[in-house]
Amino acid sequence: MVAALYRLHPQQTSLRDALRAAELAGLDGQVVLDPFAGTGTLVYAAARAGARFVVGSDIEDWSEYLRPQLSEVQNFALYWRVDAMHAVKRFEHDVLFTDPPNPARVDGSAPISLVRDFGISGSQLKSMFSFNERNLMGREWVTVTYVVRLIRYELEQGRRVVVHAFRDSGRDFDWKKILRRHFHVRTIYDDYVEVV
Ligand SMILES: C[S@@+](CC[C@H](N)C(=O)[O-])C[C@H]1O[C@@H](n2cnc3c(N)ncnc32)[C@H](O)[C@@H]1O
Repeated sequence: MVAALYRLHPQQTSLRDALRAAELAGLDGQVVLDPFAGTGTLVYAAARAGARFVVGSDIEDWSEYLRPQLSEVQNFALYWRVDAMHAVKRFEHDVLFTDPPNPARVDGSAPISLVRDFGISGSQLKSMFSFNERNLMGREWVTVTYVVRLIRYELEQGRRVVVHAFRDSGRDFDWKKILRRHFHVRTIYDDYVEVV
């Protein structure tokens, strides 16, 4: 059996956790934006959690790698090759619900399943893609500075901000710790936080 292409996205996140976080985040009736949409995990989760409409965008074109579950929902739109800072200014929304790029790595969080299902390693996976020069995956402090600036902009616009503030234990990187240096942070579920 050929495994679904969406699993090749180098920094994909858990659908189960995203669904739970979306449920607890109070997205019901809201217009939600995920400007780092990737395979659409959070877009789907927000739509399932009762969002009125969900916009997802990404600097790359991941249209061939979308999660198959997206076919179960209708109230969303996806835009490709849009920089996140541009997206927050261009698309009307009430809530930012997003999973920012991992500054520390681009070679996949589930190499064992990649080897099992596709016969490829994390580093081979990395070489399969040629990313846009503005792609922030694995760009260290550039990524952090950009995401902090984006969140600050959103708060200034009076929008709610819910972030998947994940920890990359392999590289000793922790979004929650970083966000706490700049903002007040309230845990919603596991690594998902509301930034205020
Ligand atoms: C952690 S991944 C999101 C994964 C997604 N939640 C999923 O489950 O598929 C971060 C995403 O940010 C995108 N990205 C990186 N730099 C960007 C930028 N400057 N503007 C918009 N998107 C960007 C990457 O292409 C990647 O898809």
